[in-house]
Amino acid sequence: MEGGGLRAVGSHCSLSEMDDLDLTRALDKPRLKIERKRSFDERSMSELSTGYSRHDGMHDSPRGRSVLDTPLSSARNSFEPHPMMAEAWEALRRSMVFFRGQPVGTLAAVDNTTDEVLNYDQVFVRDFVPSALAFLMNGEPDIVKHFLLKTLQLQGWEKRVDRFKLGEGVMPASFKVLHDPIRETDNIVADFGESAIGRVAPVDSGFWWIILLRAYTKSTGDLTLSETPECQKGMKLILSLCLAEGFDTFPTLLCADGCSMIDRRMGVYGYPIEIQALFFMALRSALSMLKPDGDGRECIEKIVKRLHALSFHMRSYFWLDHQNLNDIYRFKTEEYSHTAVNKFNVMPDSIPEWVFDFMPLRGGYFVGNVGPAHMDFRWFALGNCVSILSSLATPDQSMAIMDLLEHRWAELVGEMPLKICYPCLEGHEWRIVTGCDPKNTRWSYHNGGSWPVLLWQLTAACIKTGRPQIARRAVDLIESRLHRDCWPEYYDGKLGRYVGKQARKYQTWSIAGYLVAKMLLEDPSHIGMISLEEDKLMKPVIKRSASWPQL
Ligand code: GLC
Repeated sequence: MEGGGLRAVGSHCSLSEMDDLDLTRALDKPRLKIERKRSFDERSMSELSTGYSRHDGMHDSPRGRSVLDTPLSSARNSFEPHPMMAEAWEALRRSMVFFRGQPVGTLAAVDNTTDEVLNYDQVFVRDFVPSALAFLMNGEPDIVKHFLLKTLQLQGWEKRVDRFKLGEGVMPASFKVLHDPIRETDNIVADFGESAIGRVAPVDSGFWWIILLRAYTKSTGDLTLSETPECQKGMKLILSLCLAEGFDTFPTLLCADGCSMIDRRMGVYGYPIEIQALFFMALRSALSMLKPDGDGRECIEKIVKRLHALSFHMRSYFWLDHQNLNDIYRFKTEEYSHTAVNKFNVMPDSIPEWVFDFMPLRGGYFVGNVGPAHMDFRWFALGNCVSILSSLATPDQSMAIMDLLEHRWAELVGEMPLKICYPCLEGHEWRIVTGCDPKNTRWSYHNGGSWPVLLWQLTAACIKTGRPQIARRAVDLIESRLHRDCWPEYYDGKLGRYVGKQARKYQTWSIAGYLVAKMLLEDPSHIGMISLEEDKLMKPVIKRSASWPQL
């Protein structure tokens, strides 16, 4: 350890070193503090060294801009911005929500073409993420800061569903500002799952909150927010919900259906890839921000251990490529003991026919779910993109995910980026799995619908893997329709050709997702706020067929 230069231990992400675990030494307080502070700068340097020029304005974002100002990004443009950009900025600003005069978020949709508002007039935590990134990239961090603080306050509320009290760390799915024009007061109501369809708590909200706190910190260079006792406590509360010991035999997080972007029954209960990838990214983000004092040190230790186990599990068991598929196809079942190759007792007969055609010789992806005798072979966009961004995927796996996307462009992108999952469920399977959900009919909504918001994640993944030309193709498709169709929430059909049956218009995250994609392409150094570098020292994946004692 000595003489090796700056050893990157402690609260940032040198996982492999932590593995050889000498945490007592590693958590040496004063030294760590300096190293942790330094880590943001170091990371911004290294994370940006992906072949793109560094944007030096990372830490010198202009402050105090009026919300009605012209977007900085188009002012900075060396080329003519697409006319959609200006409209998108206007629409994004129209969706802003204020609490006692301060901007605190954006509405899910501002659709004046329908009276059926449902809960789209609320600020959703997950929906706000692309808005927040757009504002950060445009040098307007205040709304993001207010949002982070406001949701943190909401986390402190006592949360109940009927007579059942929810965990302290649960973050809201959404909140609404109620303005009383007579008394001239603002009040907030929040939904932690007790009003949501299906009554499921949003597992993803807390993870997005942590990821956004890191994005804010990276983008502004302002460490004072994440270092406040309130933010430190908020992170620990969120993570203590996931790091508590229980009956688990896997490091993945066991979830109910409907606890994330796919917020209704779609057969993703168990260990959905979306949550596992966000969990991994939130753990790594928290590691870069947690102070190793008091219970922070214990939390850091738990995170480090969990990250190791989680990355191993995901890279080994969720990963599917031609070779693995062939292995599973030839699996024996009913194996017992540590030497089992087919550890989860997956029945080869449960492999759906479509996978054999879908899987190219080159390419691969993280499957939707892995549990006892259960492998959901569906491809999910968000989980795979976040796996790339968080470096849950190894560089080879990241490349393979992009290869598959290129190879299966017609199926996954078609005429409108990007399929939320592939393929859809139909007939009997749809009846059993969705409970006959009329909103989730085949190739619609969560069941194989195409969601423009996913463009930002696709673009970020393309930039991280050095393949921006793929993102440009996707942006072209968006630009040919999105504005003409009034920024719908989702599209239907095998190719994504039709505006979704029940899609909102002027859906904020469709608008913000487009802006983020454009700004990322324009200035790829923005990637640092939503991407974590691969930990080069992390142990390589052991092949699926490796037997237990060799681990
Ligand atoms: C839908 C989506 C959910 C989103 C919400 C608000 O319920 O499934 O992911 O947060 O709309 O846009």
